[in-house]
Amino acid sequence: MKVDYAKGFSSKRIAVRPYARADFQTWREAHLSRLSKQNKFDSVKPSVKEVTLAKFKEMLKKNNKRAMRDECYYYGVFDKKTGENVGAVSLYILIRKGLHWANLGYEIHNQYWRQGYATEAARLTLKIGFRYLSLHRIEAAMELDHKGSIGVARAIGMRREGIRRKFFPNPTGWEDLVVFGVVKEDFES
Ligand SMILES: CC(C)(COP(=O)(O)OP(=O)(O)OC[C@H]1O[C@@H](n2cnc3c(N)ncnc32)[C@H](O)[C@@H]1OP(=O)(O)O)[C@@H](O)C(=O)NCCC(=O)NCCS
Repeated sequence: MKVDYAKGFSSKRIAVRPYARADFQTWREAHLSRLSKQNKFDSVKPSVKEVTLAKFKEMLKKNNKRAMRDECYYYGVFDKKTGENVGAVSLYILIRKGLHWANLGYEIHNQYWRQGYATEAARLTLKIGFRYLSLHRIEAAMELDHKGSIGVARAIGMRREGIRRKFFPNPTGWEDLVVFGVVKEDFES
C-alpha cells in the first residue's frame, strides 16, 4: 500500500495541500476574520488566544503524527491568487484491512461560503485519496438536514447510499446520518 501525505493537488483557483510552518500567518488571519457562527453546523469564531503559533505548531505535529499512523490526512485549502487559507479538508481512515475506506471531511471558513470552495476542494481531495493514499472507497456522512454538506457531496458526484441509524454520538444521543459514497472506479471514469 502506497501513501504519500506530502503531495496535494491544485486547480486553477485553489491548492489543497498539507499545512507547512510558513502558513501560520494566513491560517491565523483566516480564523480571526471569521464571521460569527452562522448555523448549528458552523464553528465558533476563535479568540486571539486560541490561534497562537504554539497552537499552530501543535496542529502540524498532530497532523504529521496521524498521517504517519495512517489514521487521518488533514489538508489546508488555499486560494492561489490571494494566498488566503479558505478552509481545510480531511480524509479519516475508517478501515484499511483490504477495504481502504475513508471518510471525507470539509470545512470552509464562513467568510468564504457559497463561492464553490468546498466543492472544488472536496473534488481535489478525492483525487488525493485515490491517487496518493491508495483508497478504494470514500464516504461523506452528515446530519439529515445539513443542506450545505449534502450540496457539496452531490456536487462532487457522490451517490446517496442511505441512512445509517444511530451512527454518530453527540451530547443528546446517537444520531442518524445520511451517507454519500464514491469508489475509485467511479471517480476515475
Ligand atoms: C458545508 C460547507 C463546507 C459548504 O461550503 P461552501 O464552500 O459554502 O460550499 P459550496 O459553495 O461549494 O456549495 C456547494 C453547494 O452546496 C449547497 N450549499 C452550500 N451551503 C449551503 C447552505 N448553507 N444551505 C443550502 N445549500 C448550501 C449549494 O447547493 C451549493 O451550490 P450552489 O450555491 O452553487 O447552489 C460550509 O458551509 C461549512 O464549512 N460548514 C461548516 C462545517 C461543516 O458543516 N462541514 C461539513 C460537515 S459534515
